Amino acid sequence: MYAKMTRTPLEWLRYAVLPLALGVAVGAHAQDGGEVEVLNWWTSGGEAKALGALKDGLAEENIGWRNMPVAGGAGTNAMAVLRSRITSGNPPTAAQVLGYDARDWAERDALANLDEVAQSEGWDDVFPAAIQAFAKYDGHWISAPFEVHSTNWVWANKAIMDELGIEQPESWDAFIASLETAQEAGYTGLAYGGQSWQDTTVFENVVLATGGADFYRSSLIDLDPEALDSDTMIETFDNFRELLAFKDDNSPGRDWNLATAMVINGDALYQIMGDWAKGEFINAGLQADEDFMCFRTPGTQDAVTFNSDLMIMFDTGNAQQQQMQHTMARIIGSPDFQIAFSQIKGSVPARTDLDAGPLDACAQRGYAQVQSAAEHDTLMGSLAHGYAAPASVKNAVFDIVASFVNSDMPSDVAAEQLAMAIRGATS
Ligand code: GAL
Repeated sequence: MYAKMTRTPLEWLRYAVLPLALGVAVGAHAQDGGEVEVLNWWTSGGEAKALGALKDGLAEENIGWRNMPVAGGAGTNAMAVLRSRITSGNPPTAAQVLGYDARDWAERDALANLDEVAQSEGWDDVFPAAIQAFAKYDGHWISAPFEVHSTNWVWANKAIMDELGIEQPESWDAFIASLETAQEAGYTGLAYGGQSWQDTTVFENVVLATGGADFYRSSLIDLDPEALDSDTMIETFDNFRELLAFKDDNSPGRDWNLATAMVINGDALYQIMGDWAKGEFINAGLQADEDFMCFRTPGTQDAVTFNSDLMIMFDTGNAQQQQMQHTMARIIGSPDFQIAFSQIKGSVPARTDLDAGPLDACAQRGYAQVQSAAEHDTLMGSLAHGYAAPASVKNAVFDIVASFVNSDMPSDVAAEQLAMAIRGATS
């Protein structure tokens, strides 16, 4: 027998040309127990390391790993690739998705049922209602939740704060004043990535800081036209404009993790970003409260805007694949994995029954804040990260907010256009 030395043109396309074109590495590490192909957008240093925890967990079960990373924060590019894989009848074993996207695939009947795993692991009792609302569909488990992230965080360079005598700001005005201090001292105030999902991530922080939890809910979750085209929304855009003055000229197109690096490297004072940003600090060997600071965006201290990465599995009709999917779901939901993953990723566990002791200082506070927000009905889905409204609405908001950022659009025009775009997306 001869070993096969050449590849057919189709194989070349699959293993060499396509991955190169997509800028990804497709590594097949087949093991005896078979292998899973996992589509995800975890390509930054911290994200990739966190994903490694799942790969390792599977290896312990003798299951191999084929990574299918599609770069692009918040999964915008990944969702386009996932759609084309499914439409062409070639779904991966599993994929990372966010709230409304999971629901969407469930509605199309594309997902494997994970009830068996969920029952044997007691998931109904340990995952909070806010997550179950998306991780289950029609009473059945359709995904395994990795964690809870939240978007209303500020990441701060402690050395700059110490040097300039900046105290952790508790109000919006104090926040702006601290940005002014940094800017006057020659630092960039706000590390900013000018991509539409990042614009809206910051914008939703300003909505919450300006109008409070009730306003966030009525405008971005209930999509109430009166809240959307209101004086409070105009004020929100005014505050957003004020904040945008502290970004630097090179922000357009910048990836979120490069903005995080500006804070890590001492070029910028703050970044407003979900706690995946903390994964970059951790990956750089830095310690919360010692080397960097984390606090809730001033004005949003009583609420949490959350998102949770869900692993959905596709119904492949193959018994071995199904077995591996169940193993993967069981690993993701297990207490040890939930802690280990969040320690690297920057998130907090999605399970509510764990001891937060092993987590870092930000995550310990974050874990308690998520729980307290759930009790006070101020735990609300992030719009930018797929938990407030369906993709059509999210994309409509992305467009308006990005054009506000990239022009001198007046606040009243922005509020009016926002209301109009959302009306268009929902009618
Ligand atoms: C979020 C996702 C996080 C993180 C971030 C940036 O939508 O939930 O896990 O990956 O995007 O890519």
